[in-house]
Amino acid sequence: MSLTSQQSITIEKINSSNINEVDFNNLEFGKEFTDYMFECDYKDGSWRNPTIKPFGPLTISPAAKVFHYGQAVFEGMKAYKDDQGKIWMFRPEDNFNRINKSAKRLAIPEFPRELFYQGLESMLLLDKEWIKPGLGNSLYIRPFVIATQNGVSASPSDAYKFMFLFSPAQSYYSGEVKVVIAEHFSRSADGGVGAAKAAGNYAAQFYPTNLAKEKGFDQVIWTDSNEHKYLEEAGTMNVFFRINDTLLTAPVSDRILDGITRKSVIALAEKDGIKTDVRKVKVSELIEASKNGSLKEIFGAGTAAVISPVRAFSYKDEVYNIPKKDTTFASRFKKELLDIQYNLVEDPFGWRHEVSSK
Ligand code: COI
Repeated sequence: MSLTSQQSITIEKINSSNINEVDFNNLEFGKEFTDYMFECDYKDGSWRNPTIKPFGPLTISPAAKVFHYGQAVFEGMKAYKDDQGKIWMFRPEDNFNRINKSAKRLAIPEFPRELFYQGLESMLLLDKEWIKPGLGNSLYIRPFVIATQNGVSASPSDAYKFMFLFSPAQSYYSGEVKVVIAEHFSRSADGGVGAAKAAGNYAAQFYPTNLAKEKGFDQVIWTDSNEHKYLEEAGTMNVFFRINDTLLTAPVSDRILDGITRKSVIALAEKDGIKTDVRKVKVSELIEASKNGSLKEIFGAGTAAVISPVRAFSYKDEVYNIPKKDTTFASRFKKELLDIQYNLVEDPFGWRHEVSSK
C-alpha cells in the first residue's frame, strides 16, 4: 500500500481492485461497495486527518455514543457517467447543505464545504471505473457522520467520524409499488427530527413497514402524527399525487424532508407548465378522488429510486387501485431528470456538477 497526499487529503492506494468480483448486471441496491472509503475525524474542536483508504472494517469502541444514542446523520447522492466518459453529480450543494442542517439538529458539528468536495471528487476519480455508463447505472454515494466518543452518558459526543461510501447501483424499487396509508404509526412529529436525515428516522420505519409487508404491501404512506389526516411521505421518499392534471405534494416542514428529487420534480413541472399545488393533502380527498376517478397517479420521489409509481393503496383495510395510464407524470419526470443527470440534454437549472481532475 503506498501513501500519497493530494491537497490536504491522505490517499492510501489499494493493491488491486475488487471490481471484477461484482456482477454489474445483477446489482442489489446498496450491497456492493467500491474499492475506497473516505474518513475524517472530528477531535478537539476540528475536523482532521482526511483520508481516502481501501474499503474495510473500522475499529470503534463498543462504548461509542453512536451505538447507544444513535447520534448519526447521512445523505444519499448519486454520480453518473455520460457517453463521453465524463462524470457528473446531481445538485451536490443541496446534499452538502442538508447534511449540515441534519448535523446541526443532532448536535453534530458541521463539515467544511471544501473538504466535502475534495473528498468526494478525489474518491470519485479513484473509483471511476465503478461508475458504469448507460441510463439506470449510477454510483450511489453515502455520506454519513457518527458519534465516536466513548461513554454512555446521554450527552453529545465530542468526537465524530465523517465518511463517504460508494455503492454501484441500478434501480432501487423494481416496478410499481403497493402502499398502506398509516393510521397509527408516524415517521416524525412536530418539533422532532423528521426534516433531518437522521439514521433513527429510518430505523423507526422498519417495524411499521414490516407489518405492511406481512399484509402484502411494499411501503407505508406516512400521515401526520397529530391526526393521521394528511399525507406526508411514502416509504423513504417524498410523495406526489396527480388529481386530474394537477400535481400535488405536501410542503416541507419539521416532519417532512426537503427532498432534492422532490424539489427537482416541482421545478420541472413548473417549467413544463403543469399546475402544481404544494399544500397539505388530506387522506379523505385522496379517497374521494380515487372514488370519482380524478386520482390519476401517486408516485414517490427520492434519490435512490428517483421516481417510484404506486399502483394501489390501502386505507382502513380497503384497497384502492390506480388505473394504468399510457402517459404518466411519473415517467415524464423520470425521463426529464435522467436526461439531465446523464448529460443527455441541456441543464437549464444548473443542477449538473462535473467531476474532473483539474
Ligand atoms: C433516498 O432515496 O434519498 C434515500 O434516502 C433512500 C435510502 C434510505 C436508501
